Amino acid sequence: MNNNQLRAVVLAAGKGTRMKSATPKVLHKIFGVTLVERVINEVLKIDNIDKVFAIIGHGADEVEECLYKTYDPNVVKTVLQSEQKGTADAVFRAYSDLEGFDGNVIVLCGDTPLLDEKTLSEFVTFHNQQSADLTVMSAVLDVPTGYGRIIRNQNNNLEKIVEEKDSNPEQKAVKEVNAGVYCFKWEKIKNAFFEINTNNSQNEYYLTDVVEWAVNKGLNTQAFILKDSRKMLGINSKEQLSEAFGILNKNKLQELTDNGVTIYAPDSVWISPETTIGADTIIYPNVYIEGANDIGECNVIGPNTTIDGNVQTQNNVKIIQSKVANLSVAENSTIGPFAHIRDNVSVGENVRIGNFVEIKKSKIGNNTNAAHLSYIGDAEISDEVNIGAGTITANYNALTKQKSKTILEKGVKIGSNSVLVAPVVIEENANVAAGSVITKDIPQNALGITRASLKIINDWVISKMIFNK
Ligand code: UD1
Ligand code: CA
Repeated sequence: MNNNQLRAVVLAAGKGTRMKSATPKVLHKIFGVTLVERVINEVLKIDNIDKVFAIIGHGADEVEECLYKTYDPNVVKTVLQSEQKGTADAVFRAYSDLEGFDGNVIVLCGDTPLLDEKTLSEFVTFHNQQSADLTVMSAVLDVPTGYGRIIRNQNNNLEKIVEEKDSNPEQKAVKEVNAGVYCFKWEKIKNAFFEINTNNSQNEYYLTDVVEWAVNKGLNTQAFILKDSRKMLGINSKEQLSEAFGILNKNKLQELTDNGVTIYAPDSVWISPETTIGADTIIYPNVYIEGANDIGECNVIGPNTTIDGNVQTQNNVKIIQSKVANLSVAENSTIGPFAHIRDNVSVGENVRIGNFVEIKKSKIGNNTNAAHLSYIGDAEISDEVNIGAGTITANYNALTKQKSKTILEKGVKIGSNSVLVAPVVIEENANVAAGSVITKDIPQNALGITRASLKIINDWVISKMIFNK
């Protein structure tokens, strides 16, 4: 077979009135990833897919900006549907882009984040195995309300789809519904779009009418019944958004637990589908992990920790009561309690980042400690450095609005409550005395000290008492 080539049309022009939101429906996020991106990400994993057309309308500028930030426009192309005249009209907007295309076109909605690659691949494989011209995805629901009903003839063959608003009582009683996902052998189906009309209760061009059109043409039309009907969940309200979030989370926790991760209190733990975690890692209560992260084995995460994405840890790392993002941590290092780390930080082996330490855009070497009360920004800190309690890198010049670098070479010791005014270099093994404000580079093995010298006034208290009499 040479025409198993696949393209997708993702419908994302609708308004989503029931979300009661200023944000276009498909831009609502689950674990930091928008609904439409979740759909497209799964679609892009299917074999032989080479192009996705996203049909946009409501909030088109915002949706387009979001998609072009994530995807190469040669792979995911947005197509404007300026007026929402129905689902068939939406697909028709991609007609000219599909000119001459001789493979399959899968059509789905941008608001169904639970349809995973595995299900979509099974669907496409089924379509190809049946040599179908059209396959529609269906599901059997206890409560079919709101969905189009799948109507079959006496031989159980597909006949048509009837929207609820256009259905008679007998059709309404049917529990097999249209999941809103289709696979079309494009050359065979494309002409349908010129013959569909708006003779229905909503005066819209219904994509579902393509089914009856294909049946009448004697084409091979099939239905693929979803085993797990929850996967077709479309997000139309904030309540359904929470429901999808909960399902994705539950699936993730199950997968992690099956792979040897300990999660003591799953009801208080949220982990994004894009996160991987190694065996024997323990997740304590109240942990929220979003974005893509790669957590090693035998880590301890939490309690009360937020990981906001792009975090990689090697084995035996602890992140306790902290908020971190864009961070990589090597073996045997501890972060927290109460650390805040962000904006591209790398931490070496055997490092201790302790309470109330904030680190941004910095590199921390091996066997280095910043154990208490520090701000470290735009710094390059080498191995075996000790940063005393209360040390601050003054990286920002409020007049020039420029940020500068602090460099601490190997073996440097910074005394407590020091300010390192960047740009500044503390060379190898140099020390800074507690309470110093360092505005010049300190050479190797030297001491930098800026303290007023200590005066001791003997019997000062007693002299005051006499004076006060
Ligand atoms: C549609 C199906 C219904 C199916 C259900 C599954 C039709 C006529 N009906 O109904 O059989 O059970 O999906 O969820 O197709 N859209 C556009 N442009 C438009 C209209 C819609 O992009 O002009 C998009 C919407 O943003 C949405 C999707 O298409 O993502 C589905 O449209 P919607 O109006 O929600 O269709 P349903 O009434 O849910
Ligand atoms: Ca819908």
